[in-house]
Amino acid sequence: MAMSNMKSTSLLFLKLLYILLNAPSIIAGDVDNHRFVYSGFANASLTLNGTASVTPSGLLELTNGTIMSMGHAFYPAPLRLRDSPNSTVQSFSAFFVFGIISIYDLSSHGLTMLVAPSNDFSKATAVQYLGLFNGSNNGNTTNNIFAIELDTWPNSEFGDINNNHVGIDINSLSSVQSHPAGFFNDQDGTFKNLSLTSQEAMQVWVDYDREKTQVNVTMATLDMATKPKRPTVSARHNLSDVLKDVAYIGFSSSTGKIHTRHYVLGWSFAMNSPAPVINVTMLPKLPRNHPKDSRFWVLEIVLPVATAAVILSLIAIAFLLVRRHLRYAEVRDDWEMEFGPHRFSYKDLFNATGGFENKNLLGVGGFGRVYKGVLPRSRLKVAVKRVSHDSKQGMKEFIAEIVSIGRLQNRNLVQLLGYCRRKGELLLVYEYMPNGSLDKCLYGKKDNDVLTWAQRFRIIRGIASGLLYLHEEWEKVVVHRDIKASNVLLDDEMNGRLGDFGLARLYDHGIDPQTTHVVGTIGYLAPELARSRNATPLTDVFAFGIFVLEVTCGKRPVDQQNTQDSQLVLVDWVIDKAQKGSFGDTVDASLEGRYDVGEASLALKIGLLCSHPFANARPSMRQVMQYLDGEIELPGLSLELLALMQNEGFVVQNEGFDPYIASYPSSTTSIGTMSHVSGGR
Ligand SMILES: *[C@@H]1O[C@H](CO)[C@@H](O)[C@H](O)[C@H]1NC(C)=O
Ligand SMILES: *[C@@H]1O[C@H](CO)[C@@H](O)[C@H](O)[C@H]1NC(C)=O
Ligand SMILES: *[C@@H]1O[C@H](CO)[C@@H](O)[C@H](O)[C@H]1NC(C)=O
Ligand SMILES: *[C@@H]1O[C@H](CO)[C@@H](O)[C@H](O)[C@H]1NC(C)=O
Ligand SMILES: *[C@@H]1O[C@H](CO)[C@@H](O)[C@H](O)[C@H]1NC(C)=O
Ligand SMILES: *[C@@H]1O[C@H](CO)[C@@H](O)[C@H](O)[C@H]1NC(C)=O
Ligand SMILES: *[C@@H]1O[C@H](CO)[C@@H](O)[C@H](O)[C@H]1NC(C)=O
Ligand SMILES: *[C@@H]1O[C@H](CO)[C@@H](O)[C@H](O)[C@H]1NC(C)=O
Ligand SMILES: *[C@@H]1O[C@H](CO)[C@@H](O)[C@H](O)[C@H]1NC(C)=O
Ligand SMILES: *[C@@H]1O[C@H](CO)[C@@H](O)[C@H](O)[C@H]1NC(C)=O
Repeated sequence: MAMSNMKSTSLLFLKLLYILLNAPSIIAGDVDNHRFVYSGFANASLTLNGTASVTPSGLLELTNGTIMSMGHAFYPAPLRLRDSPNSTVQSFSAFFVFGIISIYDLSSHGLTMLVAPSNDFSKATAVQYLGLFNGSNNGNTTNNIFAIELDTWPNSEFGDINNNHVGIDINSLSSVQSHPAGFFNDQDGTFKNLSLTSQEAMQVWVDYDREKTQVNVTMATLDMATKPKRPTVSARHNLSDVLKDVAYIGFSSSTGKIHTRHYVLGWSFAMNSPAPVINVTMLPKLPRNHPKDSRFWVLEIVLPVATAAVILSLIAIAFLLVRRHLRYAEVRDDWEMEFGPHRFSYKDLFNATGGFENKNLLGVGGFGRVYKGVLPRSRLKVAVKRVSHDSKQGMKEFIAEIVSIGRLQNRNLVQLLGYCRRKGELLLVYEYMPNGSLDKCLYGKKDNDVLTWAQRFRIIRGIASGLLYLHEEWEKVVVHRDIKASNVLLDDEMNGRLGDFGLARLYDHGIDPQTTHVVGTIGYLAPELARSRNATPLTDVFAFGIFVLEVTCGKRPVDQQNTQDSQLVLVDWVIDKAQKGSFGDTVDASLEGRYDVGEASLALKIGLLCSHPFANARPSMRQVMQYLDGEIELPGLSLELLALMQNEGFVVQNEGFDPYIASYPSSTTSIGTMSHVSGGR
């Protein structure tokens, strides 16, 4: 019995001892002496509100990662700050260890240690107000609140210095004094930054001196054994004017849009003496990034964002690929293998011409636009002609012909370098002619740039030789069909080169010959085309004759701008002058008489002979070359012949071409031309 009694008594004693030993806050929380120590908060009787709680390991968790939330924790009993009702607020010291945990370097918003007349902060606001004030009472002196803020968000409305600062707040979130978080090194006095969001626990001392009315706040890392001598931030403020006699001390904390958790690991306080020392190695440990939370983060934020980013980038890549594919898409057939070397990639041509930019536009011809370009690799200057063309028919023959003409280089033809095909479009790459087209030189405004007679005569010879090549010297007869000054290009030595040969052949195929409306360029059309609509080498000769007259006289074949009431038809005008015996008056006046009379007369006669209304009366290009070279004598032009030409020409103009002249007054506009290649010889 006695034994069992003794046993129960000793058990009771042990139990009491155990409770006393294991409740340090109760023992240390000496309200009268205003002194307490929390070395961890397990079993501590704090007044908690909002998201605040004590974790099983003894951490005071002010916010738990919920966004836009706040939490409060107070020492359960109020403090008496003055030793008598009418005296001043006594000196006090507080020490705490805190830590902020968030997923990234960013966190929101911060925590405070505060002294306030009440522990009801249910009307305060979270986010930037740190659970301390709200929009209406912030800054009001009737708050009677003193607080130390550890703020991780720069709020300009409160004059925050940065997103990582410690501040001394009196009745307001606009700190009376603040400083970047960190400490001054005792050895050399240098300032060491501390990052509040470093996920590391840090020590803070808050000291108020009643005599000096000075507040010091000092920070340090957890591994620093002693408090740095120089405080991080210090302010002189008489707290007797701020704090009521009875006040609660505690913490507030708030989050914004970033999931953040604010912890206090330990806390001590004393009136009129330094805060009790806490052995920080015995404090509960700050959680490493909570696995549950990080999974939450991964699932809720990171995963959707990453997925969206991946999908977006896939869409973007697909879009770019499709656009690139469409932009550079080409049409390629098997038969083109043999023309491989002459085939250009569209991408190269696109890049060469700066994406067919308008500033590279050389001109708009009868078949399409011509762009200047520089080939990316060879740096060779080229002219790229875009011909819109839909049919596949005849394409092979056309390409073959174009390529083979290009292969046989003739110095009086503009060299074709290659081609490229796209849907509905053919691109022809020619060598670049630096001096542009002849009509620009003939009718250009600059008087000092007048073509000399020698240059003109050489151009006439060159074009004759180029045409002879197309008609007789190549394996097939190629009828150019659109000989005119604007199709004659000038190379760097001012040699005339015939361009656009064979192009119209594209339009031959698949068109009923009966309905083919043969329309070349007004003024260059042989009269018989109005009846037969059948282009022959002799219709080219006719156009060449007009061309020669044009170059010699410096006048357009049909001039609308003439001052007379009717248009001036060049041939008629020359014949008229010839009949009146003033042949020499027809030579271009801008030459100012500086020309070889014999050559000019020869050119005028060849021009008239070639533009004879009767096709059979015209010379062949071979004969023209012989006349030009002086190998054979030109037949004389009788007055009868001239009269005949004039009448016939007049009839032809009226019968055949008036409608076209009326509707297409400009003599340089191709109204669609067709070349004709008769079968092999
Ligand atoms: C807190 O109190 C409970 C019983 O109420 C006890 O089991 C536990 O060990 C105590 N924790 C600490 C750290 O004293
Ligand atoms: C955080 O605290 C609030 C209020 O106590 C609670 O409703 C919420 O579930 C808590 N959230 C987490 C993640 O613990
Ligand atoms: C404190 O001051 C008030 C007036 O300010 C006075 O009425 C009161 O008697 C004083 N109390 C003491 C204990 O001095
Ligand atoms: C605690 O918060 C609730 C609302 O969450 C509020 O009603 C209550 O007054 C608060 N208590 C204290 C003591 O602040
Ligand atoms: C702001 O806080 C004060 C003090 O807690 C309270 O009296 C007031 O009603 C609050 N104002 C708003 C708008 O919540
Ligand atoms: C400060 O608060 C008091 C009481 O809450 C109020 O009467 C006063 O108007 C407020 N002052 C300002 C400037 O808001
Ligand atoms: C410390 O932080 C401040 C402000 O955040 C910055 O201007 C300064 O460069 C930092 N100093 C060091 C040594 O990192
Ligand atoms: C605040 O720090 C200064 C040194 O910078 C020191 O002289 C003063 O005594 C300190 N005051 C308190 C209250 O600790
Ligand atoms: C602080 O303020 C109180 C009351 O406002 C005053 O009595 C006291 O002298 C002041 N202390 C100092 C050091 O100025
Ligand atoms: C703190 O506690 C640890 C382990 O409990 C001990 O080794 C260390 O000496 C203590 N430090 C101080 C300053 O008491």
